[in-house]
Amino acid sequence: MTKAPPLVAGNWKMNGTRDSLWEVARVRDAVASGGAGRAEVLICPPATLLMAAAALCEGSPLKLGGQDCHAEPSGAFTGDISAPMLKDAGASYVIVGHSERRAGHQESDETVRRKTMAALDAGLCAIVCVGETAPERKAGEALAVAGRQIAGSIPKSAPPQRIAIAYEPVWAIGSGLTPGLKEIAEMHGFIREKLFAVWPGQGGVTRILYGGSVKPENAAELLSAKNVDGALVGGASLSAEAFMKIAGFYR
Ligand code: PGA
Repeated sequence: MTKAPPLVAGNWKMNGTRDSLWEVARVRDAVASGGAGRAEVLICPPATLLMAAAALCEGSPLKLGGQDCHAEPSGAFTGDISAPMLKDAGASYVIVGHSERRAGHQESDETVRRKTMAALDAGLCAIVCVGETAPERKAGEALAVAGRQIAGSIPKSAPPQRIAIAYEPVWAIGSGLTPGLKEIAEMHGFIREKLFAVWPGQGGVTRILYGGSVKPENAAELLSAKNVDGALVGGASLSAEAFMKIAGFYR
């Protein structure tokens, strides 16, 4: 099984109105003209913009994704969005288990695992987020936390090439702080081992993204670390220019 190309994913979080579609169009054009080389580029806008963004991206290599999905395909879940709905709106990916969902919406590993299954059943690829808090890192528990999250959040029956793991230390998100290269390489190597434990012989095809304060200024360093197969970018993905400077690492 061959490994998928690197993935540079933008997570817009709860930002963006129709005006922001210009940024999607700019990224689309930059990707079409080779601005990200061999990398796959993905934008996860708020769900309200998904269909309009999909219309802009028709025929383009720029992919679109959701930021979360419900574990059920439909039903009485006011305010929620299902994986088949995201697919129908033009998504090919969905982020699940982001720390802002785990902390702000009390999502357990079991919930994240069910959402991952729902995403796969709908034909989406899932970006499963894991990562430790600052006190957990201080206590020397970073690897154990990520290991537990992976074991609990990844369904064994999932095809490894349709899952990407995003390692996002909670303390690095939106803070301007990043782990050192040594810590990133250690964590990504550990995650790789865990993936081989889930899928013996095949754990090498799953992409492991780094996320947390990835900026144009630090992207080259972070993306060149061992076992880093791309990035999940929050704040810097809101600007097409900044986002393409990051994806441009793969030119
Ligand atoms: P950040 O967010 O790049 O703004 O730190 C990353 C994320 O939460 O996915």
